[in-house]
Amino acid sequence: MNLISIADAEKNLENIFEMSAKLKKKNFKVLNEKTLAMIFEKPSTRTRVSFEAAMTQLGGHAIYLDRTNTQLKRGETIKDTARTLSRYVDGIMLRANEHEDVVELGGYSTVPVINGLTDLEHPCQVLSDLFTIKEFKNSFNVKLAYVGDGNNVCNSLLLGSSIVGMDISVACPKGYEPDEEILRKAKKYAKKSGADIEITADPAAAVTGAEIIYTDVWVSMGQESEEKNRLRDFKNYQVNAKLVRKASSPLVMHCLPAKRGLEITDEVLESKNSIVFEQAENRLHVQKALLCLLLGGIKKL
Ligand code: CP
Ligand code: NVA
Repeated sequence: MNLISIADAEKNLENIFEMSAKLKKKNFKVLNEKTLAMIFEKPSTRTRVSFEAAMTQLGGHAIYLDRTNTQLKRGETIKDTARTLSRYVDGIMLRANEHEDVVELGGYSTVPVINGLTDLEHPCQVLSDLFTIKEFKNSFNVKLAYVGDGNNVCNSLLLGSSIVGMDISVACPKGYEPDEEILRKAKKYAKKSGADIEITADPAAAVTGAEIIYTDVWVSMGQESEEKNRLRDFKNYQVNAKLVRKASSPLVMHCLPAKRGLEITDEVLESKNSIVFEQAENRLHVQKALLCLLLGGIKKL
């Protein structure tokens, strides 16, 4: 099994959440002698360190590869890289600009492939966000309002929410809506799970009745050349105290890194409603569960 889209985890969500909760309380060294190769084409703090620490704690090992220091940089193909690495390691994680690169890696790799963020999705983030919501709310019978860019995190949140049956309202400026194909898939899942999906341009409408407000940066990695236009287009989409007050004491989430003063104010990020560091911590526990499942074939601990 690969985790390229959050939808790939659909059938295993309950197992992953149960194992995550156990691993958060107690470590299980169940991946002795297993190795994870991690290829990064973009910067990372949380994903890199949580995966590396996860492999260490599980008794295995992680190898960090900066894509520019591999033969990929000199033109070796993804399919050759996939087939070579598959003979050395037990799993490959890739953070890439192009989602298609992770799909191609998954197609040629004989070991599980994990998407560590692409332009289209960030499944590890949302897997852990869903676990965090379950921890705090004890149920997915809540509404999440996502305010900001309809980006990779937003796409995975749409899929994840619709799979678990959580209502989601996305407020984004015109032209920055989530991916159409993802939205189509999310609506299909929502039909089954009963989740409500709303896409609006109005942040106040999105946060009304929401138990959770979530945001992410306005300028994602690789979009630096669009910064000027983006800062102009998103200026009314800041998660600030005034917006938060429109909901009744909602939890505030952010995948981090945050740009304080842009998509979220310092005041809101540091407020008692903010659970961003619990959210960040859970990346470790949930990825440990994911690694148990993918690299160890373990569904229960
Ligand atoms: N949230 C997240 O993926 O953070 P990093 O970019 O630091 O890995
Ligand atoms: N949307 C952000 C998420 C960072 C974790 C980006 O792609 O840069």
